[in-house]
This record gives sequence, C-alpha cells and structure tokens, in this order.
Amino acid sequence: MDIAFLLNGETVSLRDVAPTTTALDWLRDSAGLTGTKEGCNEGDCGACTVMVTDTTGTRALNACILFLAQLDGKSLTTVEGLSSRDGTLHPVQTAMIEQHGSQCGFCTPGIVVSLAAGQIMGETDHDRQLSGNLCRCTGYAPIVRAAKVAARQPVPAWLDGIPSGPGVSPGMGSRALPRTADALARTLMEHPWATLVAGATDVGLWVNKDMRDLGEVIFVSQIEEMRRIETAPYMIRIGAAASVEALRLAMQGPHPQFAAMLARFASAQVRAAATVGGNIANGSPIGDTPPPLIALGATLLLRRGDDRRELPLEEFFLDYGKQDRQPGEFVEAITLPREPGGPPDRLKVYKLSKRFDQDISAVLGAFNIAVEDGKVTSARIAFGGMAGVPKRAGAVEAALVGQDWSRETVEAAMARFDEDFTPMSDMRASADYRREAAANMLLRAWLEDQGQAVSVHEVQP
Ligand SMILES: Cc1cc2nc3c(=O)[nH]c(=O)nc-3n(C[C@H](O)[C@H](O)[C@H](O)COP(=O)(O)OP(=O)(O)OC[C@H]3O[C@@H](n4cnc5c(N)ncnc54)[C@H](O)[C@@H]3O)c2cc1C
Ligand code: FES
Ligand code: FES
Repeated sequence: MDIAFLLNGETVSLRDVAPTTTALDWLRDSAGLTGTKEGCNEGDCGACTVMVTDTTGTRALNACILFLAQLDGKSLTTVEGLSSRDGTLHPVQTAMIEQHGSQCGFCTPGIVVSLAAGQIMGETDHDRQLSGNLCRCTGYAPIVRAAKVAARQPVPAWLDGIPSGPGVSPGMGSRALPRTADALARTLMEHPWATLVAGATDVGLWVNKDMRDLGEVIFVSQIEEMRRIETAPYMIRIGAAASVEALRLAMQGPHPQFAAMLARFASAQVRAAATVGGNIANGSPIGDTPPPLIALGATLLLRRGDDRRELPLEEFFLDYGKQDRQPGEFVEAITLPREPGGPPDRLKVYKLSKRFDQDISAVLGAFNIAVEDGKVTSARIAFGGMAGVPKRAGAVEAALVGQDWSRETVEAAMARFDEDFTPMSDMRASADYRREAAANMLLRAWLEDQGQAVSVHEVQP
C-alpha cells in the first residue's frame, strides 16, 4: 500500500509498503536511522521507542510492534530528530549527560524519546512514563533525576512545532486504511477474512514472534470516530479504537479504581497503542479491561455491513479462543451505563501480577456491589485469569444478594468460588493460588467498604 508521513519534519512518501513491515525495521534497514534500537522485539523493553504525533496529540510508541502503514498521515520523530538542526541537544539529552543517566547506552535512545514525549504530553509521573523502558546497567535513580531536571525546562521550540491536527501530513489513505466506520464496514464485507489490526500490540507479536502471515490486513486505529470516548447523560460510549490510555484518563472521574488499575496495564508505550476493542476482540482470558467493564454492565456494539447488534459484554466470550463474532463483523463500540446524580462509584478492581508494572495479570477481580440499609441489593462480580474466558461469578453473586453486607455473608460467598471457577495452573500462578487469591479479593472489597486499611501499594489513577 502507499503511505505518506512526516519523518523528523520531512515528508516521506512510500509505495507498495507491505502491511506487516514494522516501523523499526524500516527505520533501521531502509532509512538508515539506527539510533532506534531493537531489544526484545515484543513491546517489553522500550529500546525502540519513537514519538508519534497525530490529531489526538503526541505519544511514545514501541516501533517494533508499530506497522509502518499505521504512520500514514502522522508525524514520526526518532531520537535523531530530538536535537535541533544546529545540533543543540534536547533538554532531556543534556540532563541525561549531566546526571550520568547512561552507561552502555543501549536503552538510552528509547529513554530520552519516552521522556521527551512525556514532556510534550505534560506527564509529571516519571515512573509511569518510564514503566516501559528497561535499563539494565545504569539503574533508574540517575535517569529519574535527569527526568526531573528536564521537566523544569520548556519543550524546545523545534519540537513544540511538530504539526498536529488534520494537517499533520496528508497521508495517502487506501482501502486497507479506511478513515470512517462506514468504509471499514464496507471493506470488511468485501474481505470478511481479512485480519483487523488496531493497536497491533497483540498482532505485532504474531508477526515478530510467530512469523505468521496475516494475509489481507485492514487497519482500524486511524478511524477518528472509533477512537472517541463520549459521555452522554445515561451512558459512556467508548469507541473500539480508543486507546487504553484514553480509557484510563476517561475513567479517572467516574471509576477511579478502574483508572488506577489501567495505570498498571503494560507500559506507557503499550497503553498508548493498545485499543479497548483489541483487548476485548482478542478473546484473551487475561485481558485487563473485560472484568471491570463486565462488572459495570457494559454492552458490546457489533457491526456487520449496515447491521448492528448489541450484547452484554460477558456473552461475547463463548469459550477459550471462541467469541460471538461473525466473518465480516467488527466491534464498533462499547457502552457503559451511567446514572447522573446516582449513587457514588462503587467499582473496586484488583490486579494481581508478579511485577507491578508491565505485567500480565495472574488474577484480576472487579466488584460492583450495591448495598442499601446494610443489605446487598445487587452484585456484579467478574474475573480474569480464573477460566478460559473473562467470567462473572454467578454463584458468589447469588450468595451475596439479599443478605446482610457482613463478614459472615462474605465468608459464605467466598466458599462458593469453586462453583464458579476451575482455574488453571500456569507460569503465572497455580490453580490453588488463583482460587485463594480471588476469594480474598472479595474479602478485601468488604474490608475496604468498612474503612479498614488493606496494606497495598497505592496507585495514582
Ligand atoms: C509488552 C506488552 C504488555 C502487555 N500488557 C498487557 C496488560 O497488562 N494487560 C492486558 O490486558 N493486555 C496486555 N497486553 C496485550 C495487548 O496490549 C492488549 O490485548 C491490547 O488491548 C490489544 O489491543 P490492540 O489494539 O493492540 O489489538 P491488536 O493487536 O491490533 O488486535 C488484537 C486482536 O483484536 C482484533 N481486533 C482489534 N480491533 C478489533 C475490532 N474493532 N473489531 C474486531 N476485532 C478487532 C484483531 O483482529 C486481533 O485479533 C500487552 C501486550 C504487550 C506487547
Ligand atoms: S525492541 Fe523492545 S520494546 Fe521494541
Ligand atoms: S545504560 Fe545500559 S541498559 Fe541502560
């Protein structure tokens, strides 16, 4: 396919780009820009971090799992473009030198690009911004010191001017890069077996690690209308191509624990690329967004051509690796019910993983339990990591509803987990651990409701 984008301020037009050529391979092998490094080639280390600007702003992305075609109409800044044309270093680069933030230097280009993007985005939490950048020899203290020094300085004029908005670059567009949901629906009806690619944080690994041939590809994350998150009086509508980072920001007000959990979803780079629709459509039993969305009563909007249907999100997941989606059908949006002037938020979300940042959940529990006059009036509880699909805890919910919201009730409900789940043992956790941890999450939800402190690492939403 043909694409056009800005590379460090210069227009680049390319013909016949293979849909699965990664931005990293192209930069290093074709453009001769080898400052961007390849470490893991799977989105984990951040050595390949680049800065991408489009109509929604600037963000740091991993070039190893970013397909070149996804850059059509956008602006790409690499580490080579961070300094000015006369060679003046970016304040982050100067600070890294002065604070001794680099030893072997392999991680350094990725780190400076991440921090430079964070500065443009106004990110003040440097740990959060660097959660996707591994450094194995310098140690993080000098790097964070450099980040703090650089943050006191303005964005350099030569980067402040990165074009954004519709004029970033005209782009070429093509059938594989539809610009509207209608165009996507039409193209997918004509090519029902094509592979949809949204953020490519899963699909990128199919290509890099499984060497899979994707066949025909249709990209969705450039479709503006599908990237929006809109709040109406009685619902929040999340476009399927909205990024996980956009969801995190949107949830800070209505559901702070959801937002806090999303701050631990992968890393800044992956959150900026990954979409909510991709996290659902991949059917993973350990995706982090389905359990809280199910607990909140989310509805999935599926579209095939001009036909649309809605279903409760939990009904989409039929079995391990099997979802209720037809050829030619795609996820257009997800809606959440909203009650203006209703009761305060009661959603509690707990993610259990071996590492705090950049780790897949072993178990993730989401609890939406309503209590009136001391009695449980409704309960929606959903888990990831406890079955082959994200799943509601029906027996546990039944043991709670209509009962006193007391420790006795909670302990009786904890005994019902075995009826709902037969978890697996794998490298993340044993079945017994998962069972016990999930039941204890319910106890934790109750303790928190009683105002009793639970010793955990607090995360800012
Ligand atoms: C380093 C790393 C860390 C990660 N950490 C986490 C984590 O902490 N928590 C977590 O949940 N996940 C994690 N992931 C997995 C991944 O980021 C998520 O599953 C992400 O939400 C996938 O979204 P995407 O837009 O990148 O999907 P893509 O890779 O583009 O697509 C995934 C699947 O969804 C399909 N698809 C995409 N959009 C649509 C649509 N609109 N309609 C129908 N089908 C569609 C695609 O065809 C494909 O089958 C991690 C991944 C990486 C690489
Ligand atoms: S090379 Fe490790 S994140 Fe891209
Ligand atoms: S400086 Fe060597 S890995 Fe960071």
